[in-house]
Amino acid sequence: MSETPPVRSPAVGVSVEKLSKNYGDNHVFKEVSFKVEPGEIFVLMGPSGAGKSVLLRHIVGLEAPTSGRVLVDGKDPVLEETRQNVRMGLVFQAGALFNSMSVYDNLALYPREHRLGSESDIARKVKHALDILSLSGTADHFPADLSGGMRKRVSIARALVMEPQLLLYDEPTSELDPVMSATIDEIIGTLKNEYHVTSIVVSHDRDLALSIADRVGFLMKGRLVLICTREELRHPSDPRIADFLNPKIDIRNPRFKSAEA
Ligand SMILES: Nc1ncnc2c1ncn2[C@@H]1O[C@H](COP(=O)(O)OP(=O)(O)OP(=O)(O)O)[C@@H](O)[C@H]1O
Ligand SMILES: [Mg+2]
Repeated sequence: MSETPPVRSPAVGVSVEKLSKNYGDNHVFKEVSFKVEPGEIFVLMGPSGAGKSVLLRHIVGLEAPTSGRVLVDGKDPVLEETRQNVRMGLVFQAGALFNSMSVYDNLALYPREHRLGSESDIARKVKHALDILSLSGTADHFPADLSGGMRKRVSIARALVMEPQLLLYDEPTSELDPVMSATIDEIIGTLKNEYHVTSIVVSHDRDLALSIADRVGFLMKGRLVLICTREELRHPSDPRIADFLNPKIDIRNPRFKSAEA
């Protein structure tokens, strides 16, 4: 993809074991268990509010479970020691870029803070990440001056600068046009094939799942209801999944009115 590819590191696996999360009375999910194998692309789908973003935050150790546990490469991601030893990146749903900093400084911030190389090493990594995402020329721009799709790609580039072993994406193709969405799918697939990155991708984008997922999980009503392959995703037998992926529109009996009744 470029003259200076990221270092290939051993891929890491993720194990989610009977994970439950409550915020007060809000029981977001209960006893969710699944494994993601090293180098796998696992796509997590499910309705809005099901807890997908919360689950990703647990996997990178930004939140602690109410009960159960997450292991990344066999270690608890909440521990500082794990974060020192396993390189993880999370592409946040809303981008989470710093608007007061240039694109370059957004990408260089974490490696500078954690002294991951000299300034020239960091510059090389930033350039490589911007090139991969077709963002060359934006280094001196500020996030507010970019389109929504470009900001999305900057947040992916920022995660790539970490040369992650585990990369989590929270709706990476929302707001993108079809060609750019396909480009992101290709990037996720390339990182798996060429660099053996383990990927967990939260998405509502069925085309993304059909193109790149090794397996797909569905989080619904606080439970992980199904894990299936791409082939099974084409013709789901579970009616809840079929309705989620292909909701029938009935204006004589609309959902919002049925829900009120
Ligand atoms: N920090 C928090 N404090 C309290 N409640 C929270 C917090 N973060 C998330 N929640 C609640 O957890 C539930 C799941 O939220 P989450 O953002 O994970 O949904 P999601 O599946 O990612 O939805 P979407 O597809 O719309 O992004 C929601 O009810 C939300 O209000
Ligand atoms: Mg979300």
